[in-house]
Amino acid sequence: MRLTPALAAAAALFHVPEVTAHVSIPQALNEAFVAEKPDYECKLAAPSFNSMSEGFGPRTAFASSTGPLRAAMVFVDFPDAPATDTPGSLLQAFMPAAADWYNASSYGRLHLTVAADTRKFYRMPRPSAEYSWNRAGFTSQKQERYIKDAIAAIGAEFKPGPTDVLYIVPTRQAARIGFSPTSLTPMALADGTRVKGTVTFGQDLWTAWGFKVLNHETGHVMGLPDLYPMDGRATGLWVGGFDIMGLISGSSPDYLGWHKWKLGWVDNAQVSCAKEGESEHVLTPVEVAGGTKMAVVKVSDSVAVVAEVRTDAGLNHGSCSKGLLVYVVDASKWTGNGPIVVQSGKAGTVRGCAPSKGGPLTSAAFDFAAKEAMVDVKKYGVTITTTAVEGANYRIKIKYAPVAGGRPKPAGGFLGFGG
Ligand SMILES: *[C@@H]1O[C@H](CO)[C@@H](O)[C@H](O)[C@H]1NC(C)=O
Ligand SMILES: [Zn+2]
Repeated sequence: MRLTPALAAAAALFHVPEVTAHVSIPQALNEAFVAEKPDYECKLAAPSFNSMSEGFGPRTAFASSTGPLRAAMVFVDFPDAPATDTPGSLLQAFMPAAADWYNASSYGRLHLTVAADTRKFYRMPRPSAEYSWNRAGFTSQKQERYIKDAIAAIGAEFKPGPTDVLYIVPTRQAARIGFSPTSLTPMALADGTRVKGTVTFGQDLWTAWGFKVLNHETGHVMGLPDLYPMDGRATGLWVGGFDIMGLISGSSPDYLGWHKWKLGWVDNAQVSCAKEGESEHVLTPVEVAGGTKMAVVKVSDSVAVVAEVRTDAGLNHGSCSKGLLVYVVDASKWTGNGPIVVQSGKAGTVRGCAPSKGGPLTSAAFDFAAKEAMVDVKKYGVTITTTAVEGANYRIKIKYAPVAGGRPKPAGGFLGFGG
């Protein structure tokens, strides 16, 4: 996309970076990203030049998050790591589980289809050791070379048809291809098929995450940021085990209501905006379709306090934390820099109820049955009180008295590894 002179000048002033971590966002994509006015009163606008924030903005660079999401999957091996497994067995590691996961999380709105070329492994031109594919040594340049090598190896032999995202899966023999980053650099396959993003899977599929790594990475292709710290601090620092973009193996991995709203799985009409003074809201659990999913207090142009109800149903089966979950969304933050911070402050939850699945904040939901009825987000003048639980629904009262804003304080201190 071409920048107007005024925009280019603003972008230069702003210093639009290339973001490289778990997800590579080309500088051009951020430079071309221009804020737009949200279509609903308590929505936050995404800031210009930050294409992957928690705000709402243009979605042209991203794969569609409702209706069909068309993926092409290819399998690669290497001169120093020839395959002894089969493409079909690798496909089965993801499908149909990953598509079912999206179907459930989206209330049936997102249909992931995977056109997989299971005829063979395409041989990469370089040894796996040369790509040195791990978190420490990763750069977007390395990833781009890997993707281009794979696309050249595939050639025109595979014609997947219209495709939103390319999945490149290595043989299990390629131990050196360690992790699974995503690139948002648009690519063309040899037959002219254009893709908006590529996920280059690694062995963390087997060693850490299972199929859900696909759901996390494809979340980036649909525009969602990482909710865990990029600097090596505890994975659960900001959102505990809530939301697969925070921790793939988290205790309550279904997307937060805010993400479901961003992706179009929750409608504006299912979001109740709280204004100054007192208001009452009845929330239905995030895991079930229908009803009001969130109460949102927009406290500034870039910050909102959000309340939703989490249960142990559906994708959150087995979760040890149920009840009202309150979090602060900051649309001015970059991916991996704390755009969402779950609020807690409850006593006696030093380790959390699932220490290995997100740390202290795994206990952050306020369970009315356990007499945890009030959440005070003092920093923003928001007090939320549960007044009744009706079936699985929470009836809450929000008091909002605006204060001069500040930044939410990070909570927790769990030591874990990144997702
Ligand atoms: C997809 O989700 C919808 C809505 O929750 C459900 O009715 C349907 O059975 C699901 N389909 C599959 C294949 O799981
Ligand atoms: Zn990520």
